Amino acid sequence: MSDMLRAPAEVKYADELAYLESVDTGPKPFSWRLSPRMVRLFILGSERADGLDRDIPQKWFGDRSFVERSIVTLASDRGLLLIGDPGTGKSWLAELLAAAVCRNSTLVVQGTAGTTEDHIKYSWNVSMVIAKGQSRESMIPSPIMTAMEQGVIGRFEELTRSTSDVQDALISILSEKYVSIPELDHDNIVFAKPGFSIIATANSRDRGVNDLSSALKRRFNFVRIPVVSNKKSEAEIVRFRTEELLRRHRIDLDVPPTLLDILLQSFADLRAAAASATSDDEKLESALSTAEQIGVLEDAILHSQFFGDRQLRAETLAGSLMGSLARRSPEDLAILNKYLHGVVEPRAKQGGGEWTAFLDGGRQAIASLS
Ligand SMILES: Nc1ncnc2c1ncn2[C@@H]1O[C@H](COP(=O)(O)OP(=O)(O)OP(=O)(O)O)[C@@H](O)[C@H]1O
Ligand SMILES: [Mg+2]
Repeated sequence: MSDMLRAPAEVKYADELAYLESVDTGPKPFSWRLSPRMVRLFILGSERADGLDRDIPQKWFGDRSFVERSIVTLASDRGLLLIGDPGTGKSWLAELLAAAVCRNSTLVVQGTAGTTEDHIKYSWNVSMVIAKGQSRESMIPSPIMTAMEQGVIGRFEELTRSTSDVQDALISILSEKYVSIPELDHDNIVFAKPGFSIIATANSRDRGVNDLSSALKRRFNFVRIPVVSNKKSEAEIVRFRTEELLRRHRIDLDVPPTLLDILLQSFADLRAAAASATSDDEKLESALSTAEQIGVLEDAILHSQFFGDRQLRAETLAGSLMGSLARRSPEDLAILNKYLHGVVEPRAKQGGGEWTAFLDGGRQAIASLS
């Protein structure tokens, strides 16, 4: 595990999953490794009332109803489509669900314009076909086909970015639950074992969600994941992720609560401004998601560690914020500038302290970006 840049959830939480499996007495659908209640507990964390002798931390933050509906869907006949703004934790939730249900979250197909039917069905090992002809041996199953054969969960990231051919192929997989291999004379159908399901994700900012064919829509349950706007949950997510980062880099640094507050407040302010904007030019290109907040803090921490005095400072945080949100010049720069003048400056004048340092850092960053 230590020599993986990023371990999949089933590896990272192997101990927890083994423990939960050992105490799980609930009924399990198909060959699930955990009962639905334990899957929920793994994802949302344990409470005292659960009576476990081990504390299971929360891993995905959001409404419990989303998690429950997702779990129910996986036990049903339909696929699960997690849909929402960028950075709302859709892929992370998909990974956790797959890890908890079948201890394998890595059977993933990435949807792009270049994704073909082969990527969700099968392809051939050409040199083996030349040597031995076409057979099950020379066939290379896709991750989705492997999931069918094993009766586990296959994942499809960014479903709406794939072409309609690919989406059509998925319809047949989801309704027939088998794939035929016309190239072979016998043994030419792969049936899905019970427990097979698909978790797809789609970004609602990408065009294409509405273009999903109604046939495909019918085969998925949609779970819409909203941007977390509750400051308390957001603080928890950011803290959770940051601790992980610090551990991974073996960085010994405290994130002062006042700076965490400034980060959360500035995102809240910028979101409010975006919500009242009347045109796209007045709106940052960024979706201002929690994931972006984490990114901003991560960059600031690493910057302090590499180039600073190993203490996180408000100036550094401001620089990182401006740097990651200023994507379009001049539109985004103008919006950020307006924010500094209209919101941060008055705050610095009133309260001073860290907001003044934040303002200075922000101004410097804008000056160097313009
Ligand atoms: N609700 C949440 N709970 C826990 N972590 C979250 C949450 N939202 C975002 N994150 C963290 O933010 C990061 C990005 O999340 P993720 O990649 O799952 O987003 P996404 O919704 O799939 O975005 P995209 O549409 O861009 O693919 C992850 O590291 C994830 O842990
Ligand atoms: Mg994603």
